[in-house]
Order: sequence, then C-alpha cells, then structure tokens
Amino acid sequence: DVAVTIAPSILSADFANLEAELGRIATADWAHVDVMDAHFVPNLTLGLPVVQRLAQVSPVPLDCHLMIADPDRWAPSYAEAGAHSVTFHAEAVAAPIRLARELRDRGARAGLALSPGTPAEPFLDWLSEFDMVLVMTVEPGFGGQSFLEGCLPKLRRLRSAVDEHGLEVRLQVDGGVSAETIERCAENGADVFVAGSAVYGAADPAAAIAQLRALAGG
Ligand code: DX5
Ligand code: ZN
Repeated sequence: DVAVTIAPSILSADFANLEAELGRIATADWAHVDVMDAHFVPNLTLGLPVVQRLAQVSPVPLDCHLMIADPDRWAPSYAEAGAHSVTFHAEAVAAPIRLARELRDRGARAGLALSPGTPAEPFLDWLSEFDMVLVMTVEPGFGGQSFLEGCLPKLRRLRSAVDEHGLEVRLQVDGGVSAETIERCAENGADVFVAGSAVYGAADPAAAIAQLRALAGG
C-alpha cells in the first residue's frame, strides 16, 4: 500500500493565531510551512524565529518549504530548529548535494523543490541524495492559485525514476491541490500532498483533510 501524507499549508491559516491553527490540523501528517523572503519570490511570510517556536508547539512535524535566496546559507538552521523536513529550491541553490547532506547530518529530511519551469532531468541520477522531491504545481509565491496540469509529466518521470531504482524518495505536490485535483496527482505518482486553501478555506479542516486523504487513496 502507498503511504499517503497530507500536509496542510499554514500559508492560508490565521497568522495571528498560529498555535491554534496548527491545532486545527492535528489529524494531518505534517504541517507545511512556506518560508518566503521577498527575493526568491515576491512575497514575504515568516522565518527562522517563528519556525523555532512553531516546532515547539506543533502537534505534527513541520515540513519547511524554503522559497528563499541562498538556501546554502540559511537552510541548515531550519534543520537545527527542529523541522522534520527542509526543502530548498533547485533554482536558488548553489550546491544541492552538499546542502542535502548537511540537512541530513542535522537530523532533517532533505527536499528538493522544482518550480514549474525547472526540469527534473539534471537530478535524476542524484535522487538518492534526497528524501523528497517537491514538484510545484503553481508558480511559487502565493496560495490560492490554480493548479498547473502541465507539471504532471514531470511528476510521472520522477515516479518512474524513483521506482526504477528502488528508492524511497517521497514525491510531493504543492499548489492548487484540492478535492478536484488530488486524484490526478496521486495517479501521476505523488505521495505527499500540500493543500493550503483547500484545508484552511474549509469550514471543517479535519473533514477536508479526511476527504483529501481518501481521494488520494490513503
Ligand atoms: C505557494 C506555496 C504553497 C501554497 C499552496 O508558493 O508553496 O504551499 O500555500 O496554497 P494552495 O493550496 O492554496 O494553492
Ligand atoms: Zn509550499
């Protein structure tokens, strides 16, 4: 059986009440934390001091998605802050393998994120260095955008490569994932599903999480 991991994004939560908002998704597997620096992406969210506190109070492991310039310099601190996984962008990193090893050395799972225009091919021979690959299904920067169907072939290619080599790399989708799109993500090989507006925009986040999980086959 496939493990299905549901990771609601707190980008769509109430930023004035983050501890309570994490409590509302306690039935999820991970909490997805979108770190944006107004350089790599045009938006600005939260950073290390907030993640350090969230790691202390969260009922679920933190899955940190770093949409920042110079992750080589900043990502290891997120691992030290207690993040379960730390994902950096291929377009921003200088030395991806070295950084992935540094994250693992610090006890975190290492993730590589690919924006919609970034191909997977250069990384296919290096997948064993990562615990997860994040296939962005919107342009990074904002919640509530519509799902980019065109990213699915890349997901499929990654699934083939992971299975072909018998690896345990998780494949994550992020952006526009909802009850309408999650089945196509699962069919094309995803096993970790980020959803911001589809969970926090719902009247009952726990029910939304259960529905997404069921649709993803988990
Ligand atoms: C976008 C972020 C996503 C965002 C997803 O740059 O990486 O995690 O929160 O939001 P939805 O699910 O609303 O598209
Ligand atoms: Zn994200």
